[in-house]
Order: sequence, then C-alpha cells, then structure tokens
Amino acid sequence: MPKDTLTIRDNRTGKTYEIPIQDESIRAMDLRQIKSAEGDFGIVTYDPALLNTAVCRSSITFIDGDKSVLNYRGYPIEQLAEQSNFLEVAYLIVNGNLPSPKQYMKWESEITHHTMVHENVKKFMDGFWHDAHPMGILVGTVGALSTFYPGAKDIFNPDCRRRQSHRLIAKMPTLAAFAYRHSCGMPYAYPDNDLSYAGNFLNMMFKMTEVKYKPDPVLEKAIDVLFILHADHEQNCSTSAMRVVGSSQVDPFSAMAAAVAALYGPLHGGANEEVLKMLGEIGSVSKVPEFIKKVKNGEGRLMGFGHRVYKSYDPRARIIKHMAEQVFDVQGSSPMLEVARELERIALQDDYFVTRRLYPNIDFYSGLIYQSMGFPTSMYPVLFAIPRTAGWIAQWEELILDPEQKISRPRQLYSGAARREYVPLAQRAGARTPADSPRPG
Ligand code: ACO
Repeated sequence: MPKDTLTIRDNRTGKTYEIPIQDESIRAMDLRQIKSAEGDFGIVTYDPALLNTAVCRSSITFIDGDKSVLNYRGYPIEQLAEQSNFLEVAYLIVNGNLPSPKQYMKWESEITHHTMVHENVKKFMDGFWHDAHPMGILVGTVGALSTFYPGAKDIFNPDCRRRQSHRLIAKMPTLAAFAYRHSCGMPYAYPDNDLSYAGNFLNMMFKMTEVKYKPDPVLEKAIDVLFILHADHEQNCSTSAMRVVGSSQVDPFSAMAAAVAALYGPLHGGANEEVLKMLGEIGSVSKVPEFIKKVKNGEGRLMGFGHRVYKSYDPRARIIKHMAEQVFDVQGSSPMLEVARELERIALQDDYFVTRRLYPNIDFYSGLIYQSMGFPTSMYPVLFAIPRTAGWIAQWEELILDPEQKISRPRQLYSGAARREYVPLAQRAGARTPADSPRPG
C-alpha cells in the first residue's frame, strides 16, 4: 500500500528522511531537520515570489485554472453573477454562507447605514493636490480611517471585527467616489441610502445638479456584476499584502491600506488600462493582423490575454464579454470594441496563442466597459478595490482566526559581505589629511 510520504535522501550525509504528505503538500518546517552537520540551521525552501508555496489554508475561493472554474465558498461565479447581487456575494464571502432573507435585510441595512464618512475625512481629502491619483488618495484615506476608529485595534473581539467589516465595505465606495470628485474639482456627492450598493456608487460618482440621481438599470447591473467578479481571487498580491500586514495584528484599516497600495501597481490593478492603450494604438480592425504578427515576433504582448492561474478561458472574461455587449447597447458602440472582438477572434484560432494556452482574462473587456460608462482610466484600479474589500476582509479574518498563523516573517538566503571590521571615516581610502585643509586667513 503506497504511503503518503516523501522520502528524501541527503547525499551530503547519506541520511534518509521521511516527510509526511498532506493535501498534496509537505510542510516546509519538516525540512529543517535535514542538516549537513550538528548545529546547522537546516534546509529551507527558496521560492522567490512564492510561486509554489501555500501560505495558508483558506475556505473562501476555489480556482481550477485548467478547467476555468472560479467558486466563492463553493458557489460557481457564473451562478452568482447571474442570480445574486454584490451585497449578497459580499455577505457570502465574509460570512461563509448565503444569508437567509432576514440576515440579508439586516446586512443590507448595516452596510447602507455605514456609507457616510466623518466630515473630517473630507477635510483630509481636501489636502491632496488637485491632480492626485485617486488610488493614492484611497491608500491614504483608508489608512487614515484607523485614526477615526481606534477601537478597531480590538481584533480578537468578533463584534469589533464585524463592525469594521461593515464600515469598510460601506465606506469604500464613498471614499472612492470622493477621491474621483476631488481629482476633478467637483463637490462631493453624499451617499443615497435609497439606492442599491452599485447604484449609490454611480450616484456619488456622477450626480450633477439633479435632485435625485437615477442610475440606468443596465449600467447599475453591469457595475454590480463587475463588483461580483472582482470580489475575491484567493492569494493574489494585494490579498497577500493584507495578510502579511494583518499578521502583525494591526487594525484592519491599516492592513487594508497596504492591500490597496499593492493593487495600485501596474502588474496587478492596472492591466485593463494597458488593454485600452493597446486597442488605441491598434486603432482599427484592419490593423489587427499586423499587430498579432508583431506580438508573435516577440514585439510586445497582447494585453488582457494570458493568466498565471487560468490556462483556459478566464470564467470572469466570458461573463464580462456578455456584459460589455449590453452596456454598449445603452452607451453606443465603440470602435475599440470591434478591435477587441477581432483580436480575440484571431487569437483564439492562432497556433501561437492556442499552444501557449493564452485566452482573454478579466481585463480584456472590463476597461472598455468602464470607458464607455465615463470612468477615467485612473479610476480602474479604484473600481477593483471597492469589491475586493469583501475578499480582503474575509481573508484577514480567516488569518486572525487561524491558530497556525503567526507574524509573517520569511527567511532569506544571505548573499552579502562576510563579517568585516568598521574603519572610522578619517582612516578610509581617500580621507582628507590636515594638509589638504584650506588655511584660515
Ligand atoms: N501575449 C503574448 N504572449 C504571451 C502573453 C501575451 N499576453 N502572455 C504570455 N505570453 C507568452 C510568453 O511570451 C511565453 O512565451 P514563450 O514560452 O515563447 O516564452 C508564454 O506565453 C508563457 O508566458 P509567461 O510570461 O511565462 O506566463 P505567466 O503565467 O508568467 O504570465 C501574465 C501571466 C503575466 C498574465 C501574462 O500572460 C501577461 O503578461 N499577460 C498580459 C498582461 C495581462 O493581461 N495581465 C492581466 C492578468 S489578470 C489580472 O491580473 C487581474
């Protein structure tokens, strides 16, 4: 009968070790017993960027990249996008199960009643320069919330954690929309508690002089679906930032400022902006074959294609593509949509892309939708941060409650100088002697 173990022979010493395998993994700490001499530190694993290291157990999001599967708490993303709404999905992600009707009403009321921010947050925002990037403003203001709610430090108190979850999910759209309006010099629009989560966000973004803002139902639904699709994606860069910083037991507002900062990077939250730039450079459907040829010759990448985890069609991209068509029916088509469709059509039958398993990812169509709805490109990562807040909070709480977790503190392989003795400045090569000094007078 095969044993669930891994046998390792250390050829330096001739010793053999038997390491247990559980859940297709071995514990890195089991390798520490492997030493070439008594007193050695023991073997560590070297894994820059954590390409093959599981850092936690998580029951939130399941991805099977080969089979195009993305489930939140077991529910397929397709079913959630079609039948649920973002607030319910946020409840599911944070609490683990779908709410009962009574639980849903309570949750909706709790989130709706936390959408306002303290007036001093507005003053704080006013301090940013007029052209400040809204993502920079968001990093600062989310972190600043920790000073408004000092009680949030009580992270082992479940009631306290719940309160901060409500605050964060409720206030992120407000902070995001205020950041946008600050950057274009428009007065802030206050939350409207009669509207849905997505509808209220559109209200705070785009309300002008009308007494009551009425979101277009197709655009409201599109934003809601986009929020659902972005709500969590297991241990990505910003979620890892949330967990690493949260592991120091800091309050969740401070940890989330780190997560937002991670999302600000072009390799994470900025890819859809790159897609738009690329479509603009291509310019027209007739130029698509020429562009594909360049990509195949190694001159640039087809942005919005390929994914580290999905090696078949990104399930979120399929939903977004359908959504994009509905949005363009309302907003009017864009020549860029035609270019995108033609790129996809050619790439999906081209050997270069097929053999490398390169398919459209979530960013291929999302930027086009945001553009047609009137969001400036600087808001794209902000639109990602709002729904991801639910995932960040759920992942943070999972970390706080996991008895196996400790403060995050990776190892390194030191490659610097060996020990050397300090030499005072005056004795180092090139030091000035008294004779070099100019004589007074
Ligand atoms: N266009 C053309 N060729 C590509 C692309 C692309 N978009 N992506 C990968 N390839 C090629 C590579 O050149 C490489 O070819 P080779 O084997 O001949 O050298 C092969 O496919 C494998 O590429 P890797 O870079 O090893 O794949 P990896 O999994 O590391 O990269 C990534 C994934 C970063 C997403 C990549 O596909 C890419 O750069 N895509 C474009 C940017 C993008 O759309 N990013 C958004 C991702 S989704 C998100 O973050 C929310």
